[in-house]
Amino acid sequence: MSEGRTTTVSVIKADIGSLAGHHRVHPDTILAASRVLAEAKRKGVIKSFYVTNAGDDLQLIMTHFKGVDNPEIHELAWTAFREATKVAKDLGLYAAGQDLLSDAFSGNIRGLGPGVAEMEFVERPSEPIVVFMADKTEPGAFNLPLYKIFADPFNTAGLVIDPRLHDGFIFEVLDVFEGKAVELRAPEEIYDLLALIGTPSRYVVKRVYRKSDREIAAVVSSERLSLIAGRYVGKDDPVMIVRAQSGFPAVGEVLEPFAFPHLVAGWMRGSHHGPLMPVGLKDSKVSRFDGPPRVIALGFQVKNGELIGPADLFDDPAFDEARRQAQMIADYIRRHGPFMPHRLGPEEMEYTTLPEVLKRLKDRFKPVEMGYKPKVKHESGEAADVD
Ligand code: F6R
Ligand code: MG
Ligand code: MG
Repeated sequence: MSEGRTTTVSVIKADIGSLAGHHRVHPDTILAASRVLAEAKRKGVIKSFYVTNAGDDLQLIMTHFKGVDNPEIHELAWTAFREATKVAKDLGLYAAGQDLLSDAFSGNIRGLGPGVAEMEFVERPSEPIVVFMADKTEPGAFNLPLYKIFADPFNTAGLVIDPRLHDGFIFEVLDVFEGKAVELRAPEEIYDLLALIGTPSRYVVKRVYRKSDREIAAVVSSERLSLIAGRYVGKDDPVMIVRAQSGFPAVGEVLEPFAFPHLVAGWMRGSHHGPLMPVGLKDSKVSRFDGPPRVIALGFQVKNGELIGPADLFDDPAFDEARRQAQMIADYIRRHGPFMPHRLGPEEMEYTTLPEVLKRLKDRFKPVEMGYKPKVKHESGEAADVD
């Protein structure tokens, strides 16, 4: 590979229909997408690819030399999803074509439904990456692990021990409601950072850079289907790419946060909190209450633009205890049924039936004498009287 040439890793995913409800991707749709990518590889559009599934989401992992947001690559992914959708329709798979919110491709796949995480870098002599793919949750589900990986020395020993990590990292945080982003530096601004990313439904860590040289370290897909469509169309089921080793956190430090099955939003009907369970590929499917939310982690080496691997990183007894804890948490929280905090809060229910229920009951709400006039703070942060 010539000096300074950049390699791009593009992970693009969509739920284009699945087997037995929203359980898992059908192998024939994986085949259909693989055929499209194999042809593109033959023509030199991409260098290499790996197609897999995270539950009911079809995952295209591709490497190429065309940079991020490249129309040709995005169109290729779109074509692969369209071909897979045809198969899904022929087989009568459930929710065939679900995430393809538009009929026509218009130069960029972002905003059309599929989730996209892409990064471009000059390869190091050895370039390990980890691709995380989650099902039944939202992009903010990676906020907590990313904080631990890149800002918490109790997770990442290298932040203290390795001089190349010691300066810290920059977090690019996206406000998905406003379409604005802010960069916050760790460790100096970790309290501000946590004040934002502790609200994962709105503030999503989009990218992480190494502070000393602004090398890209991590990128997350941030598309939120409900915010694109304005209604509930399944959860966003995010993907994330993380670079590891030699000046980045070690693979073991990158995986370590997932030993704690933290609570995420998603699960049944995209409307419940539940534990994020790390699983190997063989368990990349959902069952109980359409879950619990799961995440897989595939490790690759990238060499001259070629994907070497994968290693199925959560397929390991070392994560058995996390899986056991996830089952216990699932049991506990499920017993709340339709009550918060199992069911999501009212802001998140905005995209489901809640507005209809409120509309229907509007005239049945009668004023009561409370002895005071409630002062409620609205989203804008301004105090406002409630009538
Ligand atoms: C969540 C998800 C499922 C469905 C549920 C109802 O992301 O995909 O939990 O929301 O199975 O699906 P429908 O409405 O298609 O019957
Ligand atoms: Mg589905
Ligand atoms: Mg899914």
